[in-house]
Amino acid sequence: MVSSLLTLPSTFSRLNSFPKPSLLIPFTFKALNSLKSHKQQRLIPLNHPLLYFPSSFNSSPTHFSTSRSPISSKSFDDDLVVLGIETSCDDTAAAIVRGNGEILSQVVSSQADLLARYGGVAPKMAEEAHSQVIDQVVQDTLDKAGLTGKELSAVAVTIGPGLSLCLRVGVQKARRVAGNFNLPIISVHHMEAHALVARLIEKELQFPFLALLISGGHNLLVLAHDLGHYTQLGTTIDDAIGEAFDKTAKWLGLDMRKSGGPAVEQLAQEGDAESVRFSIPMKQHKDCNFSYAGLKTQVKLAIASRNIDAKVPLLCASSQERSSRADIAASFQRVAVLHLEERCERAVEWALKIEPSIKQLVVSGGVASNQYVRARLDQVVKKYSLQLVCPPPNLCTDNGVMVAWTGIENFRVGRYDPPPPANDPDDFMYDLRPRWPLGEEYAEGRSESRFLRSARVHSSLTSIVQASLQQQ
Ligand code: KG4
Ligand code: ZN
Repeated sequence: MVSSLLTLPSTFSRLNSFPKPSLLIPFTFKALNSLKSHKQQRLIPLNHPLLYFPSSFNSSPTHFSTSRSPISSKSFDDDLVVLGIETSCDDTAAAIVRGNGEILSQVVSSQADLLARYGGVAPKMAEEAHSQVIDQVVQDTLDKAGLTGKELSAVAVTIGPGLSLCLRVGVQKARRVAGNFNLPIISVHHMEAHALVARLIEKELQFPFLALLISGGHNLLVLAHDLGHYTQLGTTIDDAIGEAFDKTAKWLGLDMRKSGGPAVEQLAQEGDAESVRFSIPMKQHKDCNFSYAGLKTQVKLAIASRNIDAKVPLLCASSQERSSRADIAASFQRVAVLHLEERCERAVEWALKIEPSIKQLVVSGGVASNQYVRARLDQVVKKYSLQLVCPPPNLCTDNGVMVAWTGIENFRVGRYDPPPPANDPDDFMYDLRPRWPLGEEYAEGRSESRFLRSARVHSSLTSIVQASLQQQ
C-alpha cells in the first residue's frame, strides 16, 4: 500500500497513503499524536483500513489505529494542530492553525526598516535578520496559542520559491522543532500557500478555481485543478507588480516602512489617475503573461522629467510637488492594474474552456491587499458571473497562517516527511527550492515574448506530485 518514492526529490519523497478525512477510518486523534511516540507505542491494527506512515519511520511500516468507532473528519480536523514557518523573503512569520481552519496564533516580524533603508531586500542582511528573530517568533507563536511543541501534530515550512539564504533559516528551525518533538514535517510551496489560504477563509471554495497571485517577486495566473495540481496560464517575463509598486514608492520618496505598495496606494487617492499617460504593457501579446519592467522605466522617466527629488520626503514636499507625486502614483497604479485586468479577462476565458466548472477567481499575495486592485478585479469577474475571493490583507501579505494551512491540506492527503533527527549534521544539505515553478505551462498560452531564464529551475510542484501519484 505504501510506495516508497525514493527516486523522487525528497520534497515529496513520500506520498503517504493517508486517506482523506472523508474516507477516514477508525482513527482518533491520539493516533496522530502517536506519531510523536511511535517508537514506544505500537498499536495493533483493527479490522479497518489502516493508516500507514512511511517505512522510514521505522524499519517496517507502522500502523496506527486505536478505535473501533468511526470518527468524523470533524474531530480529525479539530485535533490536527500545525505550526507553519515562513522565511522566504523579508518577513519572519509563524502561525499555529487547527485542521478546522481556526487560527490559534500568528506572529510576523517584519524587516520593513531594512527595506526602507536599502529600498529592496538585501539577501545577506535579510538572512541575518531572520536568524536573529526566528527563535523568538516561533516561541511567541507557541505562547500565544498556549501550546508547547509536544502538543503539535506537524510542522510545515516554506522551502521555495524565495531567497535561499532566507529559506534556510526557516527550514533549519522547522527541522529543529520537528526533530525535538518527533513531528512530521511538511514542505510548502510559497505560491501554493498564497492561493490555498483562500480556502481557509472561504470554506465554499472548491477545486477547480482560477488564481491570480501577485506579490513582490511573482505575478502568476494559475488554474488550480486540485491540491498540488496547477496549470500556469501566465507569469511575468521580467518584474512582478509588487516590485513596480516598491520602486515607484522609492523614486517618489515615500515612506517604505510598511513596504512600498501601501504607500503608493495611499498617495494615489489624492492624485489624478488620468494625468500621466503611461502605456499598458504587452497589449500586442494576446496571452496571459505580464511585464512590469517597462512600466517601471516609464515611471522613472516621468519622475525625472518633473524634477522630483526622492531625497525630499513627501511630508516636506511643497503642495504642488505633493500633487505632482500623487498624480504619478495614481496614474501608475491605474495602468499597473489595467494590465492585471486585461490578463485576467483572457485567463478567465481560457480557464472556462479548460475547466468549465470554475466559479471563483482567487486573488492573493501582498498586492492583493490593495483596495483599488480588488475593486477593479471585482468588476472583471462580474462580467463572467464569477466570484472574487480575496483573503483579508494580513493573509495576503506573507504570513505563517498560509503555510500552516497548506501544511494541513497536504498532511490530510499524506504528503509529508517523517520526523527529522533531533540535530542535523553540520554539512546537511537542505532541500531548498529558490526557483520552483508551481505548475506546468499551458501550451496554448506560451508567449513568444518569453525571456528564457538560464538559471537552474526545479521541476514544478505539479510535475513532482503527478509523478508521485503515478508511481503509487
Ligand atoms: O506576498 P508578499 O508579502 O511577499 C512576497 O512574496 O513578495 O508581497 C509583498 C509585496 C510588496 O511588493 C509590497 O509592496 C506589495 O506586496 N504590497 C502592496 C500592498 N501591500 C503590499 N502593493 C500594492 N498595494 C498594497 N496595499
Ligand atoms: Zn509572498
